[in-house]
Amino acid sequence: MHTNDRAVGVDRKLTNYADRDFSKFIRRAFLASAGLDPEDLDRPVVGIVNTSSDFTTCHRDMPQLIESVKRGVLEAGGLPFVFPVMSIGEILTTPTSMLFRNLMAMELEEQLGSQPMDSVVLLGGCDKTVPAELMAAASADIPAISLVVGPMSVGSYKGERLGACTDCRRLWSEFRAGTIDETTIGEINQELAPTAGTCMVMGTASTMACVVEAMGMSLPFAGTAPAVSAHRLRLGVQTGRRAVEIAAADRRPSQIMTAGAFHNAVTVLAAISGSTNAIIHLTAIARRLGIELDLDDFHEIAARTPLLVDCKPAGQNYLPDMHRDGGVPALLKTLSPLLDLDVLTITGQILGEALDGAVAPQAWQSTVHALDDPLGPTGALVALTGSLAPDGAVIKVAAASAHLLVHEGIAAVFDSLDDVEARLNDESLALTPDHVLVMRNIGPVGAGMPEAGSIPIPRYLARQGVRDMVRISDGRMSGTAYGTIVLHCAPEAAIGGPLALVRDGDRIRLDVPGRTVDLLVDDEELARRRADLQLPALPARGWSRLHASTVLQAPEGADLAFLQ
Ligand code: FES
Ligand code: MG
Repeated sequence: MHTNDRAVGVDRKLTNYADRDFSKFIRRAFLASAGLDPEDLDRPVVGIVNTSSDFTTCHRDMPQLIESVKRGVLEAGGLPFVFPVMSIGEILTTPTSMLFRNLMAMELEEQLGSQPMDSVVLLGGCDKTVPAELMAAASADIPAISLVVGPMSVGSYKGERLGACTDCRRLWSEFRAGTIDETTIGEINQELAPTAGTCMVMGTASTMACVVEAMGMSLPFAGTAPAVSAHRLRLGVQTGRRAVEIAAADRRPSQIMTAGAFHNAVTVLAAISGSTNAIIHLTAIARRLGIELDLDDFHEIAARTPLLVDCKPAGQNYLPDMHRDGGVPALLKTLSPLLDLDVLTITGQILGEALDGAVAPQAWQSTVHALDDPLGPTGALVALTGSLAPDGAVIKVAAASAHLLVHEGIAAVFDSLDDVEARLNDESLALTPDHVLVMRNIGPVGAGMPEAGSIPIPRYLARQGVRDMVRISDGRMSGTAYGTIVLHCAPEAAIGGPLALVRDGDRIRLDVPGRTVDLLVDDEELARRRADLQLPALPARGWSRLHASTVLQAPEGADLAFLQ
């Protein structure tokens, strides 16, 4: 295929008719039909990725943001081209949004490679959209800048601030336990997501927004400015202007998303006690660029980084509070001793220069703590290994219960989400708070890795006041969830990982300080069980089939093997 990559704007990547001049001629005829004259067509083209969809409620305000970005592009002399990419919303996508992250990344990479654009603005927000866009941009390696829609405003119910979705889970648990009645939970339901924007606790969307800003792929404050704020619209204009500048400078993702930038991102991930999903996403993005980021890197960086940001679920506040208190720039300023300050950012400055004007958090900035006055200890995220997860697993210690961090208990095994639904609340199982709930076949191959690792507490135990138990799976959990929950066990059960061999009544030992999770069953017995093991069949056709037959395990980023 003829690419003509040295041309600028609409004349790059000419369609192949075996006649370049004709290709240019016909292209300009159709651009004229769109109302563009030759003066327009001499400008650099800035693609703007539109991921708005009625199914992605958190992107509801994206059309307005697009207008801001377009204005910025035009002011700086560029020509904006808005184009759609599949949108993945967390709440209305089944069986799980994670099944489609790689599909979106693949779709966008192909669009970036096949359409003429000198740079691209990656508009996203909901959990999987941002990592998918960065994976695509990393592989296409054209100048790119990220911009999220921003977090929702905070809701309120009878004097209590609340919001999606840590409070969705907490208050639903109370309803299940019988401490909240039907009318109350119905009224609360209307306040949990009160505006456009992404979930405003430190879930996956907020986490990714903050780490992308920390990596230098978006402008300062782009991670936290509220969706409904004027600041968000100004960021749109500024991002549009910047997109024209990075096109001229040919500033590519591979120059910004370096090993140092990923280490900075992981440092921020630890300091915000962010979503465990970001571990998978950052690994996937890094591997697109040939950068090895493994679970030990996450563990070691977390081990030296204290919890600094006071947002739910690890703290009490919300993203708009963090924004008011200085956002990611204040956090990066105080984290400076732990960061690589020589990495290039999207502004063309190195991080150290970009932070020159930033001020470390002062006393009034209570959501962002100073490094010498942390909110919580180091080690928010711990990477585990052991006979249940030889290739690794993770636990978010900041969301776990201290009394369960070293725990030995009897396994109660569930084979699928349906199995949990059917049997969890069956009192004849006679589960106790000391049991270890095991869920398997929800890994990348088994089920596309749903956020089902936070298995609910059996209802009869919840009514007795039990709020946490040790839970272990090969799946993920929402960044908004909390509990003593071991996730991402690899290799997963569906490919014969040890989780597939666990039986009801086995003893399991979790030792978070010792970084182990073990099945206390002897090798001979395990060999007998392995001989009888039947692996589940792969999906029959379509995307699910391609995904299940090519997806990598969680510690490798759960990308498709042929995309790395
Ligand atoms: Fe989109 Fe929470 S549903 S960010
Ligand atoms: Mg989520």
